[in-house]
Amino acid sequence: MSFKSLKVVVTRKLPMLVEKRMLELFDAKLRESHHPMSDNDLKEAVKNTDVLVPSLGDKVSKLVLSQASSNLKLIANYGAGFDHIDIKTAIKKGIIVSNTPNVLSNDTADMTLALILGVPRKIYEGSQIIRSGEWGGWAPTALLGSRIGGKKLGILGMGRIGQAVAKRATNFGLEIHYHNRTQLHTESETKLRTKYWKNLDDMLRQIDILTIHVPHTPATFHLINERRLRLLKKDAYIINTARGEIIDEDALTRMLRTNQLAGAGLDVYENSKNINPRLRSLNNVLLLPHMGSATKESRLEMGEKVILNIKTFQDGHLPPDQILPNML
Ligand code: DGY
Repeated sequence: MSFKSLKVVVTRKLPMLVEKRMLELFDAKLRESHHPMSDNDLKEAVKNTDVLVPSLGDKVSKLVLSQASSNLKLIANYGAGFDHIDIKTAIKKGIIVSNTPNVLSNDTADMTLALILGVPRKIYEGSQIIRSGEWGGWAPTALLGSRIGGKKLGILGMGRIGQAVAKRATNFGLEIHYHNRTQLHTESETKLRTKYWKNLDDMLRQIDILTIHVPHTPATFHLINERRLRLLKKDAYIINTARGEIIDEDALTRMLRTNQLAGAGLDVYENSKNINPRLRSLNNVLLLPHMGSATKESRLEMGEKVILNIKTFQDGHLPPDQILPNML
């Protein structure tokens, strides 16, 4: 079969260059919408394609996969996270799933640093005052934030993005602590100047800023629950550019409202676009619309990876970014 005859259904509008290349290489069916596909459209799509290219928010569930024809052999996800795909069911049905790791790590780490700096230094409040036209000029005690240098940063999840955050944060004088399923090699720890905490609770008691970089899995759902939030110091900050489901958002909101935490910088939310209105109304939060990897460069490189995964598969090899059961 030539590349061109491979049927590929793409669920979302992708960068123009990526779409153009897909049309050159495959029998690709593109979609104009920026929004996730409905369950019904996904069910139709998997009936009629060899490869599905979904993205964050497209729920490739057990029910959707039950409609897949035997032609569907690859789900080449456009994105690093794959919690919207029922991977176990896909594997059982002999469907390979791949993703796009690495290429977005540095951009996501940059955005994380923007929040790590922006929340304690009250960037949101400062910007609000200027926009409101009510700035009274410089004052010795106005808009006093917390100094970044010398504070303890706790990194939850020391994978690619966690490590990219650690590298950057050291340059701002932050002391790096981390909790991860497995401890890094001593050499990496020395290079990153980081201290390992086997017990997450123990780390939470010590740090000034918590930043989250674990994937969303059944084991990490509400990993930062109310009990753990209460272990943080009252003047601690919490940053999340990973997945909203990892924090109990209602508990976080309550604690921010009652000043049991100093502030939060969030790029992701527990229920996607349905953000707790009380959270949205707070001043001590900097809220972004899931834009950690939103650079032209990352989004093109993610497309390149999708194409490479499909082409390698079509050539009879395993896609380089295949998701394996031990990654779940
Ligand atoms: C991903 O690829 O999973 C990211 O969350 C998108 O920014």
